[in-house]
Amino acid sequence: MLRKKLIAGNWKMNGLVREGTELAAAVAAGVKSESLNDKCDFLVCPPFTLLSIVGEALKGSGVALGAQDAHFAEKGAHTGDVSPVMLKDIGCSYVILGHSERRADHGETSALVAKKAAAAYKSGLKAVICIGETLAEREAGKTLDVCVAQIEESVPAEADADNTVVAYEPVWAIGTGKTPTPADVEEVHAAVRNALAQKLGQDIADKIRILYGGSVKPGNAKDFLSLADVDGALIGGASLKAEDFLNIARAVC
Ligand code: 13P
Repeated sequence: MLRKKLIAGNWKMNGLVREGTELAAAVAAGVKSESLNDKCDFLVCPPFTLLSIVGEALKGSGVALGAQDAHFAEKGAHTGDVSPVMLKDIGCSYVILGHSERRADHGETSALVAKKAAAAYKSGLKAVICIGETLAEREAGKTLDVCVAQIEESVPAEADADNTVVAYEPVWAIGTGKTPTPADVEEVHAAVRNALAQKLGQDIADKIRILYGGSVKPGNAKDFLSLADVDGALIGGASLKAEDFLNIARAVC
């Protein structure tokens, strides 16, 4: 089963116009000049304020543009929110949904994430649906149960390999420099693919990309991305430096 790897950067709430433009330009230039997207797909997800300008910088590079959240409605009285139609209109092809920071900071539930994903599909956006256990859940031995339940509840029935990417991001590994072992990651990804098969059928599940996220760096990227069910990375901190992001890609693409 050939799944092209996806190397995705989540800039989170970082970057002003100048540094965002420079970072996007450097990523675009690196990917293009080294033809890195022959072997991998690329995605950059800046904050809303930089989408337009980063989209310009990425043009013609083969690096896709994504947002970090979207509302489920197309438009209307939702102060402070941004709709998937707006994101599509501005040049996004992806949107990250259900990141653990949104689940924690904004109380997003898996049911809400599924609703947002279904709305994203309707607007022609692909959803990167995030799941992952907390440290307490891992220590209680509940990792697989939590991740499987999040898949069941966060992934809509309309999901397929073209409109959906799943990202497994253990909450305790995000921004901490701590990571699960490759064997741990392999076990969770296999369970996630199995849960996707239960929900969507084996054929679709075999084609959906499952990314690992959580303290991915140039030095450890290969350890995770060479595992059977790991189809790319969702990178936070290391995506804020073009050389780190590109070195992760160079290690695996
Ligand atoms: P870090 O790579 O900074 O650990 O962040 C991972 C993440 O949350 C990506 O969405």
